[in-house]
Amino acid sequence: MEYGKVTAIVLAAGKGSRMGSQVPKQYLTLLGHEVLYYSLKAFEESIVDQVVLVTGAGDIDYCRSELVEKYGFSKVKKIIAGGAERYDSVYMGLKAAAPCDYVLIHDGARPMVTPEIISQVLEGAIACGSCTTAVPVKDTIKIADAEDMAVDTPERRGLWAIHTPQGFSYEVILEAHERFRQGAYRIPVTDDTMMAEIFLRKRAKLVKGSYRNIKVTTPEDMEIAEVFLKKQEAGR
Ligand code: CTP
Ligand code: MG
Repeated sequence: MEYGKVTAIVLAAGKGSRMGSQVPKQYLTLLGHEVLYYSLKAFEESIVDQVVLVTGAGDIDYCRSELVEKYGFSKVKKIIAGGAERYDSVYMGLKAAAPCDYVLIHDGARPMVTPEIISQVLEGAIACGSCTTAVPVKDTIKIADAEDMAVDTPERRGLWAIHTPQGFSYEVILEAHERFRQGAYRIPVTDDTMMAEIFLRKRAKLVKGSYRNIKVTTPEDMEIAEVFLKKQEAGR
């Protein structure tokens, strides 16, 4: 398939406040390696051409020597500082990703991503312009008010939990972020398919990924990720 140049943006500039750990969660260790190592390894082994790693200003040197150089992640061409919010870090990554035709945006806090998932998302991005890996939700979801009283229960069928990576035509996602940034106030945009929906009315293709592709957010997620990684390393 002819599709031009593909850049992956791996996000690792968050503080990990919900994890409550001393170091940001992307630098916590799972089976002897940092959480972030596993994402960088998956992208290194994937079909993307290059990786832009977005991290904290004070962590750039560490990432270069202890991750990129140490493990020979040759696709990581740039390591840049992120911003205060996730969407700021994405925007900085987008600026650094050019020139490219397609961009994949991934949370460095999702160590279970695989080269297969990356390929699926790129295919969806090429076909639709906006695509995300996702899984159908297993729990019933309720919408609650400020007093934690349920106000609505959407039908579970048709509800998906949205993961990363998410893939886009470069021009599409850059335009969505530019429009967002032109706005006077910041609505809480938590992922990039939402950015394209709101600011360009561009719908995303959902491709079923893996229930293992969790984001480590709170301490119990580290326990789950360790079990999954052990199985992955054992080839199960
Ligand atoms: N992220 C980022 N820049 C930010 C905020 C988040 O690059 N300003 C990244 C995180 O490093 C993570 C991903 O975006 O890989 C998803 O964000 P989230 O899970 O919310 O991580 P944190 O913001 O670090 O955690 P918390 O919200 O608990 O503070
Ligand atoms: Mg956050």
